[in-house]
Amino acid sequence: MERVLEPELMDDVAQARAYARADFAEENQGFVDRFREYFPDWTGGHVLDLGCGPGDIPIRFLRAFPGARVTGVDASRPMLDLAAEAVAEAGLADNITLCCERFQTLALPEQADAVLSNSLLHHVPNPLQLWFHIKQWAKPGACILVMDLLRPESPEAAQALVDHYASDEAPILKRDFYNSLLAAFTEDEVAAQLAELNLSRLLIDVPDDRHWVVGGVIP
Ligand SMILES: C[S@@+](CC[C@H](N)C(=O)[O-])C[C@H]1O[C@@H](n2cnc3c(N)ncnc32)[C@H](O)[C@@H]1O
Repeated sequence: MERVLEPELMDDVAQARAYARADFAEENQGFVDRFREYFPDWTGGHVLDLGCGPGDIPIRFLRAFPGARVTGVDASRPMLDLAAEAVAEAGLADNITLCCERFQTLALPEQADAVLSNSLLHHVPNPLQLWFHIKQWAKPGACILVMDLLRPESPEAAQALVDHYASDEAPILKRDFYNSLLAAFTEDEVAAQLAELNLSRLLIDVPDDRHWVVGGVIP
């Protein structure tokens, strides 16, 4: 199945609220646990979370790594408003800076010791832009962890994943999950993107039936 683009930003208020209300605890904590597993010696520094959405991953990351400072970037104002509320509620406003900006036009005052991104790449029309900017913002030796959905082989296979994993979710969330699966990349496409940007030292893993993960250290 060919990739079908979905809107880049999740900037509809109802859509952002539905996403923030959904229970991604296992997936998001799994992302943070995977970072520790991949990079057991990493203890702290400046972390960039691209497409941070409602802020759950930065909050979980800071609880796991109190020596970190996170810059969360998302160009959706409704998402960042929800992130700001969650960060304040978690008492982490001094450690998490939120930037409402497209990563393609972001100017960062400081490079990063770690770059994270979960579920952003499938939103981006030109995926090479994300890898290019990760490379630009990562310090030499920085740890990279990027995860996203895998595109299934057919619309029917995508619908089967929605039915299996999101049957109890709000209709808006089911719609977004389906559209995101159609907009996602295959493992081979991600490998080709990394090769094109000379990032083949980062390794790809497919941990389950609907995700890929790229991790490694920037030389
Ligand atoms: C599916 S959400 C993932 C949120 C979060 N990373 C998580 O795992 O909970 C993707 C987010 O990326 C944001 N986004 C999409 N394109 C972007 C861009 N070019 N620059 C910044 N944010 C972007 C969307 O607005 C949305 O909030």
